[in-house]
Amino acid sequence: MTFGALRVTLGAGFAAAFALSATAQDLATVAGAPADAFPKPDRPVADIVSPIWHSENERDAAGEPQQLVSLLGVKPGMTVGDIGAGSGYYVVRLSPIVGPNGRVIAEDVAPDYLQGLRQRVDTLGLRNVEIVRGEAHDPKLPAHALDLAILVHMYHEIAQPFALLYNLVPAFNPGARIGIVDTFAATQSHGTPPALLRCELHAVGYRELSFNRLTGSDAYLAIFAPPSVAGRPRPDTIVTCKAS
Ligand SMILES: C[S@@+](CC[C@H](N)C(=O)[O-])C[C@H]1O[C@@H](n2cnc3c(N)ncnc32)[C@H](O)[C@@H]1O
Repeated sequence: MTFGALRVTLGAGFAAAFALSATAQDLATVAGAPADAFPKPDRPVADIVSPIWHSENERDAAGEPQQLVSLLGVKPGMTVGDIGAGSGYYVVRLSPIVGPNGRVIAEDVAPDYLQGLRQRVDTLGLRNVEIVRGEAHDPKLPAHALDLAILVHMYHEIAQPFALLYNLVPAFNPGARIGIVDTFAATQSHGTPPALLRCELHAVGYRELSFNRLTGSDAYLAIFAPPSVAGRPRPDTIVTCKAS
């Protein structure tokens, strides 16, 4: 999809969304395996400091969402889980693209961020957005819901990455993928070195499909296929990864 076409899609979607008046749906949640069943990461975890990465204008100018939409094949009718949705940079951009037959499930662990996001979604009347409050070890998403999960500039903040990745698996539909965007910096500097990301994803049974440098920023998009529910390793057999 070209930048122009995406802009038209976004514009048309927003017009349709504004014509509707409804509130963001809050989804019933499903609990996963407990946090203490999993090893903690053997590297620093960044603090949660903001509901957004760089400014929306800066990211729009870099064409970040267009690159993700194209590389991840986001299409009308898809259900996308935005894990660590924050203030909703992707929520408001993907909602019109997946359209009335698709959904964006926006999940985060910070109640105040979710409150702000709920207001933003309600103000825009985005009827196809549902909001979920997860926990660091468990996104608490409904089963068989997602065609795609995105984790954008948040992986390094996940206090329990092995548990979260494990508990995310039942939420995927067959053929679903997960796209992770982060910078090349160390986790304590709010990035995730690609070798570390690969090691942690592989430890939970995810298979790498592609690795893409994004233009306009020091970030990458890594795309993985999740394991099946039965194909996940037993939590107590998961081996942690070193940062370097
Ligand atoms: C830097 S913000 C990025 C927000 C948004 N994805 C973006 O691209 O602007 C990181 C977000 O991840 C959330 N977060 C941190 N740990 C999380 C976890 N374990 N599960 C879900 N969200 C988490 C934070 O609360 C915060 O909203």
